[in-house]
Amino acid sequence: DTPLRDLAAAKGKVMGTAVTGSKLTGTYGDLAGREFNWLTPGNAMKWASVEPSQGSFNWAEADQIVNFAEAHDQDVRGHTLVWHSQNPNWLANGSWTPAQLSTLMQNHINTEVGRYKGRVAAWDVVNEPFNEDGTYRSTLWYDGLGADYIASALTWARAADPAAKLYINDYNVEGVNAKSTALYNLVKSLKERGVPIDGVGLQAHLIVGQVPSSFQQNIQRYADLGVDVAITELDIRMQLPSDSAKLTQQAADYKAVMNACLAVTRCTGVTVWGFTDSDSWIPDTFPGQGAATPYDENYAPKPAYRAIVEALGGT
Ligand code: G3I
Repeated sequence: DTPLRDLAAAKGKVMGTAVTGSKLTGTYGDLAGREFNWLTPGNAMKWASVEPSQGSFNWAEADQIVNFAEAHDQDVRGHTLVWHSQNPNWLANGSWTPAQLSTLMQNHINTEVGRYKGRVAAWDVVNEPFNEDGTYRSTLWYDGLGADYIASALTWARAADPAAKLYINDYNVEGVNAKSTALYNLVKSLKERGVPIDGVGLQAHLIVGQVPSSFQQNIQRYADLGVDVAITELDIRMQLPSDSAKLTQQAADYKAVMNACLAVTRCTGVTVWGFTDSDSWIPDTFPGQGAATPYDENYAPKPAYRAIVEALGGT
């Protein structure tokens, strides 16, 4: 069978997956290398992973994934620089002045983006800045620096690697709703102000049978602002146990997401948040749910995998 990455390339799209560095051997490594041409470290590049104590860095897993990607002719999506979650305790629990916060953020961006300059094709610079109602989420960054922490982060990331594509990434922004409209308005105003912003990441942590009907329209409205759109963390979860009806619906849902991206020129492609059910965050976070990825726990392709193939024009 033709790998997903080649089918996607023939359509001018990319096909990515989140990965865990320690698993990149055996069947997991074979599939990650063969089927995908973009990799996102699922956790390895988060602040808590790379700087567990202040000034003491651990790049081992991030380096491993970047090296793997280069060995397999893959691009890397850096995830993520500025977020409210998975920050090291020293940072999250510190009490910082705005000036200190600003310096911490700038140094972090310089250090991480600088380390991988030329080797990371796109960065999720800011992750999950909004609440569901479209207001800004109260975070270390927003509370200390105001909404312009986003413009600062983007500006510093551009300076650290001018060639990397810079994204804002969020969830529940796949359809047209209050949150996705807030993201739209933010990108519009950043563009108007000349702040560097290249793309919008739509995470797409979805539920079987609930792909938003306005997905394509929403991708298109971002594209019309003059930015790229990437589907960055696709998974489609269900109540366990799975059965053939749920897996069939899930396949239709995967196809619908692929088709929404394929229909918009500026949608760069789709990344799945783990390609196997054995490496998915869903069961830990939503007890009783799972089976959200294209391969089952034993690396057998599911109907969702076939649906991606078909959407990409394969047989
Ligand atoms: O590494 C430790 C391990 O040492 C320890 O034994 C184990 C016990 O719980 O925990 C391990 O850390 C876990 C880590 O994943 C690595 O597996 C954390 O507890 C767990 O909270 C963490 O979850 C990650 C989650 O982000 C945290 O918010 C998921 O793997 C990761 O897939 C998920 O990814 C996020 C994206 O970054 C942003 N969008 C949403 C998405 C899903 O939550």
